[in-house]
Amino acid sequence: MPILGIETSCDETGLAVVERGRALAERLASQADLHSLFGGVVPELASREHQRIIAPLFDALMSDAGLSVRDLSGVAVARGPGLMGSLLVGLGFAKGLCCATGLPLVGVNHLHAHLLAADMEQRIEWPALGLLVSGGHTHLYRMRSPISFDLIGRTLDDAAGEAFDKAAKICNLPYPGGSHVDALSRGHTPDPKLFPRPYTDNDNLDFSFSGLKTAFGLLVAKRPHLRLPRLASDSDDIEARLPGGVREELGVVLASLSLAVAETLTMKTARALDAVPEARCLVLAGGVAANTMLRESMSALAASRGLALVAPSPLLCTDNAAMIGYAGEIFLTSGLRHDLSLDAVPRGRIVPDDYVVGECPA
Ligand code: KG4
Ligand code: ZN
Repeated sequence: MPILGIETSCDETGLAVVERGRALAERLASQADLHSLFGGVVPELASREHQRIIAPLFDALMSDAGLSVRDLSGVAVARGPGLMGSLLVGLGFAKGLCCATGLPLVGVNHLHAHLLAADMEQRIEWPALGLLVSGGHTHLYRMRSPISFDLIGRTLDDAAGEAFDKAAKICNLPYPGGSHVDALSRGHTPDPKLFPRPYTDNDNLDFSFSGLKTAFGLLVAKRPHLRLPRLASDSDDIEARLPGGVREELGVVLASLSLAVAETLTMKTARALDAVPEARCLVLAGGVAANTMLRESMSALAASRGLALVAPSPLLCTDNAAMIGYAGEIFLTSGLRHDLSLDAVPRGRIVPDDYVVGECPA
C-alpha cells in the first residue's frame, strides 16, 4: 500500500507517494529563486513558504496519483537534521494527517534517506559503504543494513556542498552554486596544483573544507575579473554574461576546485573502504553526488576495488520526497514507527533511533 513521503528540511517542499520502492507520483516546489536573491537560504522565509504551499501541493499530488487519503497506508516525514522552522511545517502536516486518519507515522533521518534513495534505481548490496555529500553534510557511513548505519567519518567544519556554494557566491553565481560550478567546469582542463587537498595529511576519515573556501577566496581576490559584476539569478544566461577570456579562465578555476573536492572525497573514501572490508558496494548520495567529476572519480575508485558504484540519478540526488517515502516504507514494513510525540532534529544534532515497534502496514 502507498506511503506518503514529506520533505521540508531546507528550501524544497517535496511530497511523493511511494509504493514498493517506486514513486507513483511526486511534486517538488523549489524556493531556489527566492533564496537566490539573498545568496543563501533565509530560514524564516523558507518555513513561511513551506507553510503556504504544502496543503495545495498535497491536493495536487493526490490528484496526480489518482488516490485519496484513504488509499494511503502510512506517512513518512523528514524529521532532521535540517532547519527547525522548515522541519516543523512538515511534521505538523504529517501529524495532522495521522491524527485525522489514524495512519501510522514514521520520522525519517534525511541523511539516511539520501543514501537509501540509491536503492530505488540500482540495488544496494548489503553491507555497503556510503558517502553522503550535501549542502550541510559530508558523512561516511558503514551501512550494515537498510535500518542500521554507523557514522565513521564527518566534516569538522564546512560540508563539500558548502565549499561549492561559497565559491559560487564569491563569483556572484546564483545560489545554490554547486550545479553552476559543475556546468561552468565542463570541457575545461583542471589545474591540479591550483587548490590544496585539504585535511588529507592524516589517517582519519574526517573532512575539513573551510580551508578550500579560503584558498578560493584568496585566488579570486587576486583575479577580481572572475567575479560577475552583480549577483546572477538562475534565469540569467551566465555564460553569455562572461567575456570570452574570462569564461575560459573561470572554467579552469572552477574545474580545478571541482577536482580538489572530488579527489579529497575519493582519498578518504578509499581509506574508509580499507576500514570496512566487508562492504559489497559503494553508495554515493546527496546533492553533491550529482557532480560530474566526483561521479567519475568515485566510479574509478569502486572499479579499482571490484565494487559497483551505486549513485542515484541527478534528480534523485538533491532533496526530494520520494527518498523520504522509500525510507519510510522500509521502516514501516520492518514494524518500526513513531508516535505523535515525534520531534524534529536541528542541524548539527544526531537523529536518534527512537522508533516504537508497531504493526506493519499491509
Ligand atoms: O542534498 P541537497 O539537495 O540538500 C541538502 O540536504 O543540503 O544538496 C544540496 C547541495 C548544494 O550545496 C548544491 O550546491 C550541491 O548540493 N549540488 C552540487 C551539484 N548539484 C547540487 N554540487 C556540485 N555539483 C553539482 N552538480
Ligand atoms: Zn539533503
